[in-house]
Amino acid sequence: MTTPWEEAARRRTFAIISHPDAGKTTLTEKFLLYGGALGKEAGTVKAREGRRSATSDWMELEQQRGISITSTALQFPYRDCVLNLLDTPGHRDFSEDTYRVLAAADAAIMVIDAAKGIEPQTLKLFEVCREREIPFLTFINKFDRPGQGPLELLDQIEETLVVEPTPVTWPVGIPGDFRGVIHQGTGEYTRFERTSRGSTIAPEEVIDIERAAREEGESWDTALEEAQLLTELGRVADRKTFLACESTPVFFGSALTNFGVRFLLDGVVDLVPSPAPRPLADGSRRSLDDPFAGLVFKVQAGMDKAHRDRIAFVRVCSGRFERGMIVTSGRSGRQFSTKYAQTMFGQDRETVELAWPGDVIGLVNANDLRVGDAVYVDRPAEFPPLPAFAPEYFMRARVKDTSKFKQFRNGIAQLDEEGTVQVLRERDLGDQAPIFAAVGPMQFEVASHRLANEFGAEIELTATPYTIARRTDTASTDVLRAMQGVEVLERADGTRLAVFESRYWMDRVLRDYPELTLERLIAEGGLA
Ligand code: G4P
Repeated sequence: MTTPWEEAARRRTFAIISHPDAGKTTLTEKFLLYGGALGKEAGTVKAREGRRSATSDWMELEQQRGISITSTALQFPYRDCVLNLLDTPGHRDFSEDTYRVLAAADAAIMVIDAAKGIEPQTLKLFEVCREREIPFLTFINKFDRPGQGPLELLDQIEETLVVEPTPVTWPVGIPGDFRGVIHQGTGEYTRFERTSRGSTIAPEEVIDIERAAREEGESWDTALEEAQLLTELGRVADRKTFLACESTPVFFGSALTNFGVRFLLDGVVDLVPSPAPRPLADGSRRSLDDPFAGLVFKVQAGMDKAHRDRIAFVRVCSGRFERGMIVTSGRSGRQFSTKYAQTMFGQDRETVELAWPGDVIGLVNANDLRVGDAVYVDRPAEFPPLPAFAPEYFMRARVKDTSKFKQFRNGIAQLDEEGTVQVLRERDLGDQAPIFAAVGPMQFEVASHRLANEFGAEIELTATPYTIARRTDTASTDVLRAMQGVEVLERADGTRLAVFESRYWMDRVLRDYPELTLERLIAEGGLA
């Protein structure tokens, strides 16, 4: 029988982050194609119609069952490894979700559109990676069409992200006339051949240097010169600096035509660390062969409207998970059966029988679980708390039809638990008119939409004067409440947030009352 150590060594658990439209979905499809999990032809992971805007994209993610699950975690084989790909929302307004997903990943792939370079949302998501100290690979996509030159793109990565880009592959041909890549490690030239929209694995040919020079002409000379220069400058992929988040191995390609996809997958296998013993809240680590423990990193309800199911996505951190196991929820101490555990293998939602460190399982109707919780057998585990993001947008919510108040109350409790928005309550108003706090305004749209559609409680949102929040405690509450321009609001889990009308005002309070507890939340003032 295999051990958790052996199984973990074969696992690579990673996320893809990108600005919307950079090609994350296409790349995911191609990964499945190369992993043999799609049959011979690349189908579509999800329909693209109607998702022109990020909002509709997200709404669809939320609503369409197959899609939501597909986009949460996919497992597929590649070489002798098992790859677990976690999806992250592309929009910056959901960067807190991205952060949570990254808590379950061991590395990320940042996809950049070669024509657009680093886009604002890429930057924001990248900051999230840095905040979590997650190493990342960079895939420069859409090289099949006109765009910026490779050296220009490297400069941009270095200047904007302050991380050293180290190419693993170097393109031959310009964007729009992309012929193949030189592998910086082996020095080999691989030429690609187009297939119809990349529906099959791109035929590749390793071509010797004389023939390349003869057949590719000037493109070859330029690429070779640049590739050699980069090597001389020491710009070569290095696992140590990659793991320390000081460098990012760069791959050039085109997800649409499949060019370079195999090299990227090889990079995942060769560079991404396999699951390691996980740090616990008490500073120790859970060994991989300790009894099963997992981290809840996402909770999603309403995936299947007919059944109103609620799925808690758990990353296995130690031991061997077997379906049907009785596990304990770390926070409540309650035990429950995992009879309905699921996974996404390739494109199918399947019942999972067995899972190992690095794998993701979906526990259906584990109603007790919240993001950040541990589940375990035998020996208790508690993971370090996931830090809360600083909300920057605050809106007051009221149910339009007061006869729907009960539905509204259930709905907001659910959304708060899932982290769709933070639901904050004032002392006197409580659930009558809670304040929704968000990192980005699109979270309000998702919350309203879900309250109306899943819970039958339409809401009205009105502006509040608050713009910034800090975590506070009971001792500081009375002093703060006596001030103008500050309010202390409470979350269902007991967290207290002091919300201020302006940063200026908050800074004054911090200066004049240094004895008050006003803890900074992560990403205060926005990332980047
Ligand atoms: P996302 O998940 O990051 O939002 O991006 P997605 O994969 O949906 O890709 C966005 C658009 O970019 C799609 O075009 C897709 O076909 C195109 N695309 C992705 N990778 C490449 C590439 O390597 N080269 C080129 N030229 N295009 C690429 P669309 O017109 O929005 O959709 P569709 O009509 O192709 O379905």
